[in-house]
Amino acid sequence: MTQISIAPCNGPGAEIGNVDLSQELSEEDFSTIRQAFADHGLIFFRDQNITPEQHIAFAKRWGDININRFFTPVDGYPEIAEVRKEPNQTTNIGGGWHTDHSYDAEPATGSILVARELPPQGGDTMFADMAAAHDALDDETKDKLDGLEAIHSSKHIFGGEAAYRSESDAGERLQNANAADALDDVVHPVVITHPLSGRKILYVNAAFTVGIRGWSQEDSMKLLMPLYAHAAQNRFVTRFEWQPGSIAFWDNRATWHYALNDYQGERRVMHRITLEGCALH
Ligand code: SIN
Repeated sequence: MTQISIAPCNGPGAEIGNVDLSQELSEEDFSTIRQAFADHGLIFFRDQNITPEQHIAFAKRWGDININRFFTPVDGYPEIAEVRKEPNQTTNIGGGWHTDHSYDAEPATGSILVARELPPQGGDTMFADMAAAHDALDDETKDKLDGLEAIHSSKHIFGGEAAYRSESDAGERLQNANAADALDDVVHPVVITHPLSGRKILYVNAAFTVGIRGWSQEDSMKLLMPLYAHAAQNRFVTRFEWQPGSIAFWDNRATWHYALNDYQGERRVMHRITLEGCALH
């Protein structure tokens, strides 16, 4: 039998080959993939042809599925969130650097995103390696971040008054969501220790981090904005070009991601399953 291959990308992530996710994986193959996920925080699969049921079965091998409280699910599959942009929409979902679910007390482990309908060109997703971004900080900055906690919120994105909901047409996809589900803000360390790899991770993001606990808004932004510019440098980024049959599985604790919105007038449909996570320290 052909062995699973693991080919590291030029930037963060690795491409897993010689595997068919429509079939039930042996324990050995699953443990190879699990190790690659722990090592790289971001894995890709190509040329897969999986049904929604097989997508769900693969996700369940990793743990419990988080039923997304903001996204419209795929018809008949509450476990699968639909990430869709129609030709007449101008805004997309995820069109800026962010970490899904950092606004939760126990942020989701990660998401398994399956390409269902792609534009002829464009629609790539970028991923940034937040362990590498942390490691490359100078010692003075690392010392400054030590012990700091950041406040994360979903209210300004998903809450009743959120611009994302009211002003953007991507917000149409959130029409079924209950604004009250934008729960209370949460606090996480600015630098966490990754639960799988043990690496230090810069765990703040421009979409959901709204400040540093105990700091003014101005001082918080003075600290955060240079960190965002630092982490978004090309040297920490992989740009994933989707093809029919592509799947990306990212670790939310280890990466940021950014869905590029450069395919105006075309349709893009993705199926996303998100896995429950744990408290971060
Ligand atoms: C997301 O932010 O989860 C969407 C990513 C994508 O559509 O590429």
